Parts: sequence; C-alpha cells; structure tokens
Amino acid sequence: MSMNRGFFRIVSTGHYTPEMILSNKDLEQMVDTSDAWITERTGIRERHIANGKTTSDLAVIAAQRAIDRIGYDKEKIDLIIVATFTPEMKIPGVASRVQAKLGLDKPGILAFDINAACTGFIYALNIAERMLSNDTYRSALVIGAEVISKVTDYRDRNTCILFGDGAGAVILEKDETKEVIFHVSSKGDTELILCAEDHISMDGQKVYQFASKAMAASIREVMSYGDISRSSIRKIIPHQANIRIIQSASKALDIPLDAFYINIQKYGNTSAASIPIALDEMLEEETPASDEKVLLVGFGAGLTSGACALSF
Ligand code: ACO
Repeated sequence: MSMNRGFFRIVSTGHYTPEMILSNKDLEQMVDTSDAWITERTGIRERHIANGKTTSDLAVIAAQRAIDRIGYDKEKIDLIIVATFTPEMKIPGVASRVQAKLGLDKPGILAFDINAACTGFIYALNIAERMLSNDTYRSALVIGAEVISKVTDYRDRNTCILFGDGAGAVILEKDETKEVIFHVSSKGDTELILCAEDHISMDGQKVYQFASKAMAASIREVMSYGDISRSSIRKIIPHQANIRIIQSASKALDIPLDAFYINIQKYGNTSAASIPIALDEMLEEETPASDEKVLLVGFGAGLTSGACALSF
C-alpha cells in the first residue's frame, strides 16, 4: 500500500463512447439472460461497442475533446500516459498512437501505456503527478481507454453482460495550490480470479467480495491521510463495475448513495476508462468549489485498488 501527496490542476477533461449500443434486450438474444436479471444484479442497462474502432481511435477522440473544450494549446503536452488492458497492438503502445494521431512531434515527449486493469487510471494519475512534480514535464495528457468487446466472449453470460468500450481523458498541469492525495495498492492475485488472455474469465463472487471491501478501505485511507471531512467531499466517482458494489461502499462508509456519481446504467464496466468518463460527465453537470474535494476510487484485476482526492 502506498499513500502519497502531490499537486496538480485538472486543466480540462473529455470523453468518448462509441455510437453502437448493446442493450440488455440485445443480450437476451445472445445468451440465457434477461434485462431484469442484469438490471437488478448489476445496474447496467446498456453498453457501447467500438465495432471496429481501435483503442487509440477512442482515446484520441476523448483527448481531442479535452483539448477543444478549453482551446488548449496541445503543443504544451509533453507527457502522454494511457491506462488500458486492451491495447490494439502489443507494440507500439496506445499512447504512441495517440501522440501520432494528435500530431504531437516536438522533441522530448514521453508516451507510454500502463496496465493496472480497472485501477489503471488512478495509477496513471499518480505516475503523472510524480513526473510533473520535478518540473521535467509540464503538461500531462492522461487517458483511460478500452475496447473490451474484443476480449469478451459473447457466449459467456457471467461476463459478457458487464463490459463496454469507451475512453476518458484529462489534461494536468502542476499547481502547488491544488493538493492531490493518493492511495494505491496491489495485492497479487495468486488464484487469477479475474484475468484475460483471449477472453475475460472471472470468479464474479470473489471479485465482488474483494471490490466491496477495497473500495471502502481506499476511500477511508485517503480521507484519513488527507484529513478530509465528509462535508468537504463534493462527489465520489467510483469505478463503475456493479451498482451493488457502490451501494455496499456507501453503506460501509455511511456516506449516502447520492454522493456517488453513477453512470453504470449507460456504459457498463469500461475498466480504466470508467472513472475518467464519469469525471468528465460530472464536471459537465457541476463545478466543485475550491474548498471541496472530488474522490476517485477504483479496483480491478491484480488485485489492484486505489483512490485519489482531487482539488479544484
Ligand atoms: N443472466 C442470468 N443468470 C445469470 C447470469 C446472467 N447474465 N450470470 C449468472 N447467472 C446465474 C448464475 O449461473 C447463478 O445461477 P445458479 O444459482 O443457478 O447457479 C445465479 O445467476 C447467481 O449467480 P451469482 O454469480 O451468484 O450472481 P451474483 O449476484 O454474484 O452476480 C456478478 C454476478 C454480477 C458477476 C457479480 O458477482 C459481480 O458483479 N461481481 C464483480 C464483477 C466485477 O466487478 N468484475 C470486474 C472487475 S474490474 C476489472 O479489473 C475488469
């Protein structure tokens, strides 16, 4: 487990989910399941499917939207990190593809991928913060992007109902007035209860048990380390894996469910993309005050987990 404190400002955000929608009703035609079962057990109603688009296609649209939102000078970007477990190729990394597609070719840019499954975006933010902190890099583009449909077995009802495709992006700059607190952890999964080679395989109940505990524990760690009071939390943005996991964290923490941002009904579990997609949607709807915190919290294969308290 690692706790650390750093400083950055979220300059802009963007997200993209592909146009093709796979609804619970569609899945009823593919496997032995029902809209009612999926909705009740997971909270998911539909998910978006890349349908031929690659991970970097999704990532670059999310990044471009973050750039366009504020008319950001993209030439300032000198660090690109993509969190993903579904890169389109083994090499080059998705980050290098994003760099090429954005036409960022000035010398000295660093671009690489990281894989910490669904906690990947929080790990990537933590790495970016460390790299901005010594002034070597000045502007970081951090993206969570996944095309999970290509590693989903649409004959396996235990997994195919859960996942969707999408991407979310943030642009960060160092700002010593904006404190960020991180808790990141990896347990090591000796049993491989959640893994993907050609297809995802998962012991759903074991993942569920880990996730319910890890989410609440990570939030507690960040609140305690950062001396963050309940009243200063504007929103908690959890990894969107299962509504019941979020409800169980809400109960364990005694924080009402309406403090959690939830969009799982529209997208399902988009792994490393789920938190930045939700963050962008939340910021479209509301603006946190400078004395408020937004908490991000995730868990995933590995078994990894982590949380982060952002200042705005
Ligand atoms: N439709 C209908 N019935 C189903 C389906 C389905 N899609 N899937 C399973 N069932 C059946 C099971 O076969 C079982 O039937 P049985 O009682 O006759 O044996 C019954 O429903 C109950 O199955 P459970 O596995 O006990 O269902 P549960 O309530 O645990 O829900 C779920 C399953 C949704 C997978 C849940 O365990 C879960 O969300 N786990 C966490 C998964 C997760 O978050 N994974 C991603 C982690 S992040 C990352 O790194 C990618």
